[in-house]
Amino acid sequence: MNILDGKEVSAKIKEDIKVEAAAFTAASGRKPHLVAILVGNDGGSETYVASKMRNCELVGFESTNIRYDVEVSEAELIAKIQEINKDPNIDGLIVQLPLPAHIDPDKVTEAIDHRKDVDGFHPINLGRMQRNLPCFIPATPYGIILMLAHYGIDTAGKHAVVVGRSNIVGSPMSILLARNSNPGNCTVTLTHSRTKDLKTEVLRGDIIVAAIGKKNFVTADMVKEGAIVIDVGINRENSTETKSGFKLYGDVDFDNVAPKASWITPVPGGVGLMTIVGLLKNTLEAAKGTIY
Ligand code: GUN
Repeated sequence: MNILDGKEVSAKIKEDIKVEAAAFTAASGRKPHLVAILVGNDGGSETYVASKMRNCELVGFESTNIRYDVEVSEAELIAKIQEINKDPNIDGLIVQLPLPAHIDPDKVTEAIDHRKDVDGFHPINLGRMQRNLPCFIPATPYGIILMLAHYGIDTAGKHAVVVGRSNIVGSPMSILLARNSNPGNCTVTLTHSRTKDLKTEVLRGDIIVAAIGKKNFVTADMVKEGAIVIDVGINRENSTETKSGFKLYGDVDFDNVAPKASWITPVPGGVGLMTIVGLLKNTLEAAKGTIY
């Protein structure tokens, strides 16, 4: 069993981004700039946005966190997005999800100029991704692809089983793995809550991507010997064992699955760190104008 080490890979790629950011800043007289909008005070979202902002600083980007009370109206939020769309000093804009129930996430996503949509959630980016055209790729699937590429894992012809069909991870991941690209060229099964006999489907996977949001959901009896196991889960539970007061669990029962896997990502220290890298790479591309 080999570890897909998100700590090591993300640190290495961030060094490259830092060099490119410095070159951009020297040439343009300003830093790449990411704006993150956070509505309300969900604990997980607070942590993720703080980490995104901190990592921007680390690689030499400017970052701005705009915060709204949970009661902000959809119209006010969209007005702010439209203002940012027009600001030439802002390269990338993300609105952290989930949003409160009174705000339609699709309307918000479509309000963001696709040229600043560094989350890659806008239908234009999604469509372009499916067509293998230059676009912003959603950060988590992008990070996973970068990780597979870093380790030189040959995915062509492999059977990939994605567990979970979210807009953020499962759905774009299934598109990327099926694309005629490297990594890619997999035969993909996208499973979800209505899949019949999930265990049989997951057992077929040479590559398993678990993105379901349930602690230890993928158990050893669901995993083929030698499978590559990618754990996207970040399930938080209160704990007195840690300084932060919570502990993270993946979607994969790591202790029992790892001995069967050829490669596996740990939680923490795996995909989560790569998500940040995906976002930083997209923001740099947005600043450089290499995609649009
Ligand atoms: N919520 C969970 N993951 C993400 C992400 O990648 N982007 C945004 N905007 N919200 C998220």
